[in-house]
Formats: sequence, structure tokens, C-alpha cells
Amino acid sequence: MTTKVFITRDIPDEGLNLLKKDKRITLEVYEKDQKIPRRELLKRVKGKDIILSILTEKMDKEVFDAAGDQLKMVANYAVGFDNVDLKEAAKRGIAVTNAPGPEIVDSVAEHTIALIFALLHRIAEGDRYTRAGKYKSWGPKLMLGTDLIGKKVGIIGTGNIGSGVVQRLHDGFGVKILYNDIKKDPKLEKGTDATYRSKMQLLKEADIVSLHVPLLPSTKHLISTKELKAMKKTAFLINTSRGAIVHEKALLKALKNGEIAGAGLDVYECEPLIDCDPKDNLALRNMENVVLTPHTASATIRTRQAMSRTAAENILAFLDGKKPPNAVKPKK
Ligand code: GLV
Ligand code: GLV
Repeated sequence: MTTKVFITRDIPDEGLNLLKKDKRITLEVYEKDQKIPRRELLKRVKGKDIILSILTEKMDKEVFDAAGDQLKMVANYAVGFDNVDLKEAAKRGIAVTNAPGPEIVDSVAEHTIALIFALLHRIAEGDRYTRAGKYKSWGPKLMLGTDLIGKKVGIIGTGNIGSGVVQRLHDGFGVKILYNDIKKDPKLEKGTDATYRSKMQLLKEADIVSLHVPLLPSTKHLISTKELKAMKKTAFLINTSRGAIVHEKALLKALKNGEIAGAGLDVYECEPLIDCDPKDNLALRNMENVVLTPHTASATIRTRQAMSRTAAENILAFLDGKKPPNAVKPKK
């Protein structure tokens, strides 16, 4: 009997080819390039031994029940794994893996810095302005932005990705770096001159705040009214982690009231909705001082292939009876 693997959406081919080649595996991939409807997902997982999931699919009790008792593993095609109910999986003895790696650190760190520059140098806004035919004459005061050099950048969360951002900022941009995490990181401090601050102190001091924490019960709405009020009126907020780290309503209010200067967002609290209230015409998608990308911080060809390989390698290790390299366990 072969191991039945279901992939909830087509992924780049390198990992797929590894799985296809393996005689132990019968592979089934959801055919359409769209999010799999929940009902279809519940139908298709039935009888599968392993699910390779993407982050839009909640892997929870209902899915595990629909799959059946033989389900042994969920290999998540993402660094984040807040879409997987780890406790329920552990209870049932289902192994869970994520797909981190040096490539995704590179891509998300670069994307974060791209958002910082897009905001400070008003790139997206300038693009809209230029395309609309509004550029009539060079002007000494036309669309004045902000230089990054000399600024204080505050990084909240210095795991692999946050540290990758710190390293790049240190190597390339002449900024002062503040960081916050659950504990100090002497190695990071030594290599980059980053200085530890409490979350509230970091928010008070930083000109740019960038979020790199995983979404856990303890990090949901880590940035809300009090935190936004602590920030400078001239400060920018960047989020490439998970939407729900930021309380969207509080962010909207802070932007509307000029309590902060702008935001660069790759992730959204009500994703794939950009605004939790799509009827609000003054919401994020219509603000000039907000730069938005569609959860594409890791979306380079190289990185999405690397994630594909990583997910497949975890499955193959599991089938070899080894501990998968990227096993994740429930945290508080
Ligand atoms: C993307 O957001 C990921 O977690 O990989
Ligand atoms: C992910 O790899 C992280 O630790 O930030």
C-alpha cells in the first residue's frame, strides 16, 4: 500500500517532483489554481495519510475528522503555522511541519526593506500620480519624502526573519537599530549593534517599526490603540508577519487621525480582505500613505521553489521513519 498524499493547491515543481518520483507515494493535487472550497477540501482529504497544506487552509479538528484516523502528517507550505491546530494534531499523533529556510529569510527581509523604501520615498504613490498624468513640472516641493539614513528602526521579533532584516539594515543603510523579543539576543547585538528595548520603549523611539513575530494567542493584537499612540506621529509601521498581529481598527484610526505617518502591509487581519469592512471608503486601500502588497513577501521563484523542496523533504524524512527537520510543536 502506498502513502496517499493530498496537496491542497498546486505548488512550484521542485518538491512535487521529489514526491512524484517516490514509489512509496500516491500523489493527488487540487487541480484548480484557486483556494480550494472548504467542502471540496473536506471531501478530498478523506482517506489520505499526509496533507501538504497551504496557509489559506485551516487544518483543524474538522479536517482531521474528515481525513480519518490514518492521517499521520500535515506538512505546511509556509513558515507560519497559525492555520494548523497544533494541539489537536498533537492529541491525535499527527506530525506537523513548516517550511522555513534561508531563502524565505532573504525574500521576506528584502520585501520588508522594499516596503520601507516604498513608503519613505513614496514610490507607490508616485507611480499612481505619474500614471494619472499629474506630473506636469519638476517642483522643489513635489512629493517630499523621508530618507532612511539616520533613522531609528525598531524590529519586533528577532527570529530568523527579523534578524535577517536587522542584518541588512546594519550592513547597508546607516540606521540605528532597536529590537524587542521575548529575550535579549547577545549574538545579534554583537554582530549588528542592535540595542534591546522593551516593546513600549521601542515604539516610543523608533521612526520605523517592523513586525516579525509569529501569530500566537499571546501575539494577537500585539499592536493596538495603546501601542499606536506610543509611536511618533512621524513613524511608519511595517507588517510582513500576520495580519492579526495588528488590530486593524486601531491602525485605521491611528492613520486617519495622523497618530502615525503611514503603514506598509503585506498581511491583513481579515485576509484576503484588505479592509475588514470593505464598505469603508476611507479604509486602508484608499489611503495614499499606505503601501499594500498581496501577502507576497516570500513570493520569489527561488524561495517558493525552496519552500516546495522543504515541504517535500519533510514528508520524505517522515516516510523514512526519521524526525522531519521542520517539525513544529504546540506553544503557549
Ligand atoms: C507566509 O506568510 C509564510 O508563513 O510562509
Ligand atoms: C522564521 O524563519 C523566523 O524565525 O522568523
